[in-house]
Amino acid sequence: MTFTVLRLGYQGDGIAEGPIFAPRTLPGEVIDGEVSGNRIEAPKIITPSTNRVAALCRHYKSCGGCSLQHASNAFVADWKQDVVRTALAAQHIEADLRQTQTSEPRTRRRAVLTGRRTKKDALVGFHARGADTITEVPDCHLLHPDLLAVIPALRALTVFGTTRKGELRFTVTRSEVGVDVAVTGAKPLDGQMLMTLAAMAGEHGLARLTWDNEPIVDIAAPYQMFGTTRVVPPAGAFLQATKEGENALISAVLETVSGAKTVLDLFAGCGTFTLPIAANAEVHAVEGDAAMLKALDQGWRQATGLKRVTTEERDLFRRPLLPDEIKRFDAVVIDPPRAGAVHQIKELADAKPQKIATISCNPVTFAQDAKTLIDAGYEMGRIDVIDQFRWSTHVELAASFTLK
Ligand SMILES: C[S@@+](CC[C@H](N)C(=O)[O-])C[C@H]1O[C@@H](n2cnc3c(N)ncnc32)[C@H](O)[C@@H]1O
Repeated sequence: MTFTVLRLGYQGDGIAEGPIFAPRTLPGEVIDGEVSGNRIEAPKIITPSTNRVAALCRHYKSCGGCSLQHASNAFVADWKQDVVRTALAAQHIEADLRQTQTSEPRTRRRAVLTGRRTKKDALVGFHARGADTITEVPDCHLLHPDLLAVIPALRALTVFGTTRKGELRFTVTRSEVGVDVAVTGAKPLDGQMLMTLAAMAGEHGLARLTWDNEPIVDIAAPYQMFGTTRVVPPAGAFLQATKEGENALISAVLETVSGAKTVLDLFAGCGTFTLPIAANAEVHAVEGDAAMLKALDQGWRQATGLKRVTTEERDLFRRPLLPDEIKRFDAVVIDPPRAGAVHQIKELADAKPQKIATISCNPVTFAQDAKTLIDAGYEMGRIDVIDQFRWSTHVELAASFTLK
């Protein structure tokens, strides 16, 4: 029995009538294969789509890191636009989308890798597709070469820092001065281990090594540039996934807030938007993570030529800023985590600042927020779809709202 793939689901699987889900298939393809439940786990492609391409990466077949390498760039860019369009259409909003801006291969500057001991050595890589095994990815087309270069160090740390049954998680971040490695899930530290780990970090040229939140060694402060400001984020902290994607988001935000004298930056992180905006406007940065805010503040204090930046540690889910607190700002930037920020958006809709720049990695919650703002009297501008997660199903966007 054959099936025709009708569309791609949000997880990237092809969906045929039934619904039957088939990974790594594309709309229009005729497929065959054993159906188990509602899935064809290993579909055979009988009629390929014209959008099908040979995957660039030799690890693609087994690796769980990418899910759309079998589709052309143009197809993926259009599909990500469709995801945004469909989410907005569900709220009866018509979208005006700019062309998708996709980050180049080998530019991912932050990743989470897993390390596991083997009999003789260790494996470090991504979890394989739908399995508990780990796929090594020495020729990964996604990660920046600087991150791939530290894999031998991660292997050595795995051999040293875990038991035969345990796994280590490595958050690796490329900085301006080398790679910052934050390890979790390791054996508890003792004095001897600490010395050995510090020596290993030096040997492998890591900028910084952190062990289950314990700082081991800070050989060079691993800083990032936000505009013209140097910031040293806490180990493992959130950063936009590629520099190119970050620049595209900053441009979109600066375009929205241009002309504002006072800006409120909600979910500010380490200042990705705060500091570039502060070249022209005073900014109040609000964020739930104290260490990130401290990094932002230190960066600002050491910078020259920026307007005043103030920071506030606050849980914006439990205590969103209220209209009276928002009203003194000309413009607001809001970049919540994946869950969105429904309560904060409602307060913004009540406060009615002139301009709101929204960044979202969840088109569904974004569309709900857009409806709230439009119903409150805002006009939505064109939307930038910014793809920092090439070959994955993640969709990220920036949009602007102006009070009519
Ligand atoms: C998508 S990141 C954006 C960070 C920053 N705007 C950037 O571009 O680097 C979301 C941020 O929200 C923060 N966050 C998560 N939950 C929060 C909460 N309940 N209250 C305040 N901040 C929170 C995270 O620490 C993270 O820095």
